[in-house]
Amino acid sequence: MRKKFLAMAAMLGVGIFTATLPTFNYCEAAEVQNVAQVYDLNFDSSIGVEKTLTYNGKEIHFTAYENIVYVRNPKNAESQKLSIYIPTAYLNGGMINGYAARTAPIFVPNGVGGYMPGEIKPPTENDKMTHGANTTLAALARGYVVVSPAIRGRTTTTNGEYVGKAPALIVDYKAVVRYLRYNKNALPAGHIDKIISNGTSAGGALSAALASTGNAPEFEPYLKEIGAADERDDIFAASVYCPITNLDNADMAYEWIFSGEKNYYQAMWQMKPNNATADAANNPTQSKTFQTMTTDEIAVSKILRDSFPDYVNSLNLKDETGKLLTLDKKGNGTFKNYIKQKYIESAQSALDKGEDLSGTNWIKIRNGKVVDVDLKKYAAAATRQKAAPAFDKMDLSSAENDEFGTENNSPRHFSKIIQKNYGGAMADSEIIKMMNPMNFIGRADVDVAEHFRIRHGAIDRDTALAIPAILALKLQNSGIDVDFFSPWGIGHKGDYDLDMLFDWIDSLCK
Ligand code: DHB
Repeated sequence: MRKKFLAMAAMLGVGIFTATLPTFNYCEAAEVQNVAQVYDLNFDSSIGVEKTLTYNGKEIHFTAYENIVYVRNPKNAESQKLSIYIPTAYLNGGMINGYAARTAPIFVPNGVGGYMPGEIKPPTENDKMTHGANTTLAALARGYVVVSPAIRGRTTTTNGEYVGKAPALIVDYKAVVRYLRYNKNALPAGHIDKIISNGTSAGGALSAALASTGNAPEFEPYLKEIGAADERDDIFAASVYCPITNLDNADMAYEWIFSGEKNYYQAMWQMKPNNATADAANNPTQSKTFQTMTTDEIAVSKILRDSFPDYVNSLNLKDETGKLLTLDKKGNGTFKNYIKQKYIESAQSALDKGEDLSGTNWIKIRNGKVVDVDLKKYAAAATRQKAAPAFDKMDLSSAENDEFGTENNSPRHFSKIIQKNYGGAMADSEIIKMMNPMNFIGRADVDVAEHFRIRHGAIDRDTALAIPAILALKLQNSGIDVDFFSPWGIGHKGDYDLDMLFDWIDSLCK
């Protein structure tokens, strides 16, 4: 279906081109193409517009500096703009929530989902998703300076060329940070050493990538090419919701949990892969239909499942007590116990809040304590969302294959196992490496953020809990402060606990 669509689009493209030929003025066209606009990176405070919105019954006064192109030579100016929102009190020497102009954190949430382009999210009281205030407004109410960027995604095109494939999204997020540093004295407010990223799903992966790759030299040529400010791009802290990350290993982790499940229940957005407002079906019971995996998919599921222990063991991860986390050939061992413990903590917190968990068949409760988790029963209850391989599809049909695609939109593999077993073109190995935070954490030439808050809901089936767990452990093992938790009853979503997220930020910034 998708291939057919692409073929049709290609045909249409040819059609439009030939139809335009007779009246096409080559000289004018050449001029338009050559005189690419160069943007000034100096922040202009005169564009500020004062606005007021209501949040929890309180008037929030802020000044908006909107639609600023954040690189000198954008590949696509519409997708490389940001807006800055500053609580107006700071412009008048006032304070909010204990912060003054120069101490207020700079909160930089990204709106990326499905590896699609991320859009600027101006503050609003009527968000499409929450039917209430959005994250930008909530953060302003807390006294944060909010920077909301547009970011290139896998469908971004300029003159028919795809300009937003991997690693464009990380490059843009870094360019945003560099723009802010470049203008640290010109900005009316914000503590430049208190930049905090935030994102969900592909946006969570992006938040983790930004925070894990500070000043990594690999990104330099890409940043130069778009004319990013010549500044540092490390940040202070990252908020990461259900990150679709570690893509080159995520297929194995998925099968380690879900291999016993033959049926999969697709999320709505996967049926419409180009839906920009990708919000997966958070509750498995909302999925109306299921499909059964093919013989090929079942076969690859087993290969992936059996390959996961070697990957886990190669990481030398340790828990908080220093115990090595490993798996034997059957997929059992201390790493498995660690994952079970995460679900136990999740269930226990719900139990402690008075929730009735007697209907949950995959946990064992004794005297008010959750004492065990059955991961097989968990997989059956949570349900598989994706057929194997979950990410690097044999026919190159996933959002992630598209993300790793070429400038002319040919999708690519990114998992060695899949490519080895099924053939097809592989993405550039350097780009695959750049997209995975795991490759940067602990490196002497990289400035990883000091603090991470990682959340992955206990019934999220978009990626396996092992993936954010591995990220959290790797960070922790390299001395980073990590707050990692799997909230009970939560599926694939983010920003559902903003009060707690902001409490965490306040605890780090005050
Ligand atoms: C997203 C969800 C997925 O399941 C996936 O494979 C990629 C991205 C998302 O919601 O951003």
